[in-house]
Amino acid sequence: MDLFEYQAKELFVKHGVPSSEGRVTDTAEEARAIAEEIGKPVMVKAQVKAGGRGKAGGVKYAATPEDAFTHGQNILGLDIKGHITKKILVAEAKDIASEYYISFLLDRTNRSYLAMCSVEGGMEIEEVAVEKPEMLAKVPVDAVKGVDLAFARSIAEQGHLPADILDAAAVTIQKLWEVFVNEDATLVEVNPLVRTPDNQILALDGKVTLDENAEFRHADHVAFADIDATDPLELKAKENDLNYVKLDGEVGIIGNGAGLVMSTLDVVAYAGENHGGVKPANFLDIGGGASAAVMAAGLDVILGDEQVKSVFVNVFGGITACDAVANGIVGALETLGAEANKPLVVRLDGNKVEEGRRILADFAHPLVTLAQTMDEGADKAAELAASDCLQVGRNNTAAK
Ligand SMILES: Nc1ncnc2c1ncn2[C@@H]1O[C@H](COP(=O)(O)OP(=O)(O)O)[C@@H](O)[C@H]1O
Ligand SMILES: [Mg+2]
Repeated sequence: MDLFEYQAKELFVKHGVPSSEGRVTDTAEEARAIAEEIGKPVMVKAQVKAGGRGKAGGVKYAATPEDAFTHGQNILGLDIKGHITKKILVAEAKDIASEYYISFLLDRTNRSYLAMCSVEGGMEIEEVAVEKPEMLAKVPVDAVKGVDLAFARSIAEQGHLPADILDAAAVTIQKLWEVFVNEDATLVEVNPLVRTPDNQILALDGKVTLDENAEFRHADHVAFADIDATDPLELKAKENDLNYVKLDGEVGIIGNGAGLVMSTLDVVAYAGENHGGVKPANFLDIGGGASAAVMAAGLDVILGDEQVKSVFVNVFGGITACDAVANGIVGALETLGAEANKPLVVRLDGNKVEEGRRILADFAHPLVTLAQTMDEGADKAAELAASDCLQVGRNNTAAK
């Protein structure tokens, strides 16, 4: 999960990384009020998850609260690389003597961590990396040893920071490493890390990516989720611990195991070509235990997608056998009642397939069709989705 700058700075404060005092808001009026509170010149900064905000006009100096109000008005709503600015950070403007660069990241190639540091911060670090690679130090970090003060100093030295500031820089860099490790981040990047005229070292920008696999260790990270930007169905699926990705199509998909679901998407897309070009509406892996509760939660999410016209349930019985899955489907349809209002094609195979099919045949739900094979199921589901689309088309025409 990528964080906004103001969220990254909340983590910096928590770990004692010096930055500049500020607060986030979504109105220009409050920007003025925050500037008044701070009582000094401020920077008004667009909070979007994109770099290069400064160049795009999203970072402005305001000498007075009135300037903060004006910049707030201009920056709120600003489009930066396709991201619309909904919030601004109003932070004390610091005097800057020099701008440096520091980051910690996961180095997948070397299966380790990497620190990058440069005296040439502020501008686009990608340019430094290409044009003056010798000015960008890349220092491997031993995951077990981590970064102590002496090593932090050495990172700063290799990045060619001036000798008289190395000790001060080491303190801030070591704290940034603590953010990286203790918050389970995969990236902590500060550009610029600034030196003030009185030789303080401050993190004036912050880019942090958190490792979602470690979310269970960080109850407080939940608050960082950008709920406005998350699809409501994906949110609902997440609440139910379902692995769901919404796609742009008409055939809802439920399967067990990521590989089976991926190939189901392919088969449905292929079958759809013979039925007016209908496409899969989602990825949904219900995982190992296809209980009634999990099946009901999955169906509930998929049926909540208005674009969905039919659903293809493609399950291979393994440890969770087909009879359990069939009972899951029966239970889910009973739980959902009238909310289950779209045709369902079910293909079961594997462990206890006969029992599973028998359960569904006996249940004889008017919306459920059984398919023998994956191809047949995909074709049927695509056909049902396409005929529903036609129906809607006809009704619309009739209404005119
Ligand atoms: N609090 C601040 N005080 C003084 N200057 C700042 C402050 N925050 C940012 N700046 C200046 O604005 C530039 C761009 O801001 P930054 O936060 O790095 O955004 P981006 O990297 O997206 O352009 C920085 O390089 C720095 O020169
Ligand atoms: Mg920056």
